[in-house]
Amino acid sequence: MSNSSLPLLLLLVLYIIVASGQPYENYDKSPPSSTSESVYSLQVPTLDETNFDNLLSFGYYRKTCPQFESILHSKVKEWIQKDYTLAASLMRLHFHDCSVRGCDGSILLKHDGSERTAEASKTLGGFQVVDDIKAELEKECPKTVSCADILTAAARDATVELGGPYWAVPYGRKDGKVSIDKEADMVPMGHENITSLIEFFQSRGMTVLDLVILSGAHTIGRSSCGSIQYRLYNYQGTGKPDPTLDPKYVNFLQRKCRWASEYVDLDATTPRTFDNMYYVNLKKKMGLLSTDQLLYSDQRTSPLVSALASSRTIFEHQFAVAMGKLGIVDVLTNQDEGEIRTNCNFVNAY
Ligand code: HEM
Ligand SMILES: *[C@@H]1O[C@H](CO)[C@@H](O)[C@H](O)[C@H]1NC(C)=O
Repeated sequence: MSNSSLPLLLLLVLYIIVASGQPYENYDKSPPSSTSESVYSLQVPTLDETNFDNLLSFGYYRKTCPQFESILHSKVKEWIQKDYTLAASLMRLHFHDCSVRGCDGSILLKHDGSERTAEASKTLGGFQVVDDIKAELEKECPKTVSCADILTAAARDATVELGGPYWAVPYGRKDGKVSIDKEADMVPMGHENITSLIEFFQSRGMTVLDLVILSGAHTIGRSSCGSIQYRLYNYQGTGKPDPTLDPKYVNFLQRKCRWASEYVDLDATTPRTFDNMYYVNLKKKMGLLSTDQLLYSDQRTSPLVSALASSRTIFEHQFAVAMGKLGIVDVLTNQDEGEIRTNCNFVNAY
């Protein structure tokens, strides 16, 4: 570990200790309203005392569907053992769901002009896993468990399945009834600048630290070559590849990505393991998406990348905390705000 990242590492450790003291039971649905720019101020999320009737809770299905998590767990495990790429699909699907109208299952709706039909949703997957879990739950506890809760828990179990951390998920999200393709196309696609990524996260109650930590999800999974080919040959009209890419890595990518429809690992080093190699790769100019690489060149985020590259333990702990925050973005909990879908693909008919 370099000397320069040591103080930051200590700050992160301190942050973890402070953040861990925060009780999650009856966590308010609105994310911490910290608009502070600084990731170094060690703020603890506070409960909004006035809004105590619309809460997520850990015991939400304790009486109505006690077998929910065990059913979900065995299904997720079964699917990933058959096809490990589904783990990454589920994590990304959850991110895209929470990014648009909050974690309300709106990405799952299948109708003309829904989020699922958007350009940004083209390579999303894992829908069949959610459908399968939902079908099983409708047999065991009909009309009880929301698709939004299923997807949130499935993303957690998928992370664990690939060797990542566990975190407790509070439940009680309602499923939304609105899903609009144009809104889904606001989700970043990999060619944005850091300012717009930070703004995207902050407008959803998350911080610069959350941006850097959650980007670490790219330690697993793949990108279609179509998303990165613009970096390989004639970058910004220069006739050359993107100079922020390692030349050997460019060479590898040029051979791997002859066709836009091919796929390439986001983490070139350990693509199947949930570890912190993603950050180590960024320091070696081996970030596949330009939004990955920029995290190491921008002053607001590069110290965090260095700190995370030096400790897998800190990354995993922080990832669990940040996923907890992602999972409560703008959730619907009121009776009149949403519903419990019986089929995750469609709004209820009645
Ligand atoms: C910070 C902004 C982000 C950008 C710009 C971004 C962009 C992308 C892009 C372009 C791909 C490849 C899509 C394709 O061409 O097939 C991808 C894949 C992926 N993203 Fe992100 N992403 C971001 C944040 C996140 C977050 C927060 C998560 C989860 C917590 C996540 C999880 C994933 C996963 C797991 C994959 C691989 C999917 C698969 O293998 O099927 N991403 N992302
Ligand atoms: C970042 O991107 C946004 C949206 O495309 C643009 O409005 C802004 O000018 C860009 N900022 C910088 C510093 O390039």
